[in-house]
Amino acid sequence: MYKRDKHTKNGLLKIPKAVCNTMLKLGDISLDVPFYQAPLSGYTDRAMRVLAHKYGAPLSYTGVILAKIALHKKAFNRLYFQPSVDEGLVGAQILGGDPETMAEAAAAFANVGFDLIDLNFACPAPKVLRRHSGGYLLKEPEAAIKIMQYVRDSVSCPVTIKLRAGFDKTQESMDKFWQICQGAVAEGIDALIIHGRSVKELYRDKGDWEIISEAKRRFPKATIIGSGDLMDAEVIVEKLKTSGLDGVIIARGAIGNPWIFNETRALWEGRPKPERPSLAEQGEVYLKHYEMIAETRPMLKSVRYFRKFSVGYCKYHPQRKMIQADLIAARSRDDLYAAVKKWYGVG
Ligand SMILES: Cc1cc2nc3c(=O)[nH]c(=O)nc-3n(C[C@H](O)[C@H](O)[C@H](O)COP(=O)(O)O)c2cc1C
Repeated sequence: MYKRDKHTKNGLLKIPKAVCNTMLKLGDISLDVPFYQAPLSGYTDRAMRVLAHKYGAPLSYTGVILAKIALHKKAFNRLYFQPSVDEGLVGAQILGGDPETMAEAAAAFANVGFDLIDLNFACPAPKVLRRHSGGYLLKEPEAAIKIMQYVRDSVSCPVTIKLRAGFDKTQESMDKFWQICQGAVAEGIDALIIHGRSVKELYRDKGDWEIISEAKRRFPKATIIGSGDLMDAEVIVEKLKTSGLDGVIIARGAIGNPWIFNETRALWEGRPKPERPSLAEQGEVYLKHYEMIAETRPMLKSVRYFRKFSVGYCKYHPQRKMIQADLIAARSRDDLYAAVKKWYGVG
């Protein structure tokens, strides 16, 4: 397992195997627990990644990033893409349909210090599908496999892919899904992260974990990671124990809830689930999260941008409805602090 360390030449410190109980291997990266922070566009920017790391996620991913942005040096630098020491290990997730651009982007992200590259074959957004990237590539196995080949050849760090369980539920779509899985294994992709819904299903109903387990049965030597509906530590540990998979990623369950990582860690390691932190500590984490967001955005924008996180944090407050109304109504940093003072007693 590696940890970020600003004192070493490459910024990483190798932890000797003897003290590292490896649970999940992604190429030459070893994680000590088989779960980590999923990519969440609009959420998993630096601030959320710092908190995920602090509370025990061994790795986190960026939200999806257009590959072509890496070709525009000015935009690339301006967007604060470089991960920092306090984020731990971070994977950059890139999106695009052109193999050469994807390969160039992968190399650029690896060069600025990302530990791993993930390829998005999952995004169901109509504008992404119209551009023949993201989830659209599940319809085009040859194109998806070519992207994997180009990217695999362009970087030496681990490469993973994130895909949904087919474009839709037709047999043709499922055949293409298996073809892509087979291609990924043949190309030496380090892990397949499968969200058990098709692109067409968006977020409806429950994800199909059987198909993810089936992937592990078909490709027992490949690292297969599951995603879908993992909202609390008990469910996560249950899935890890029963699905036969190598690992899982935690997505919506971590929004406003970085504690999910240390809770899952405890249950996974056979310890009792820790008590929820006091409301005061939750309030402090909320404000720290907001301040990290505010570092990169003007005040009004950061207050507005933070609303979606507020909704997440409120879910874990006993007076959820009332506090949410106050936090969402905040128009300034002072309003936000006043609401946190009122409901969490800090700030
Ligand atoms: C708001 C939101 C943003 C997401 N952004 C991404 C993304 O950028 N890249 C990606 O591969 N998946 C993305 N996902 C999918 C999640 O990583 C995850 O696979 C999905 O939410 C299922 O897990 P869950 O039910 O535990 O949330 C996103 C999901 C949501 C709800």
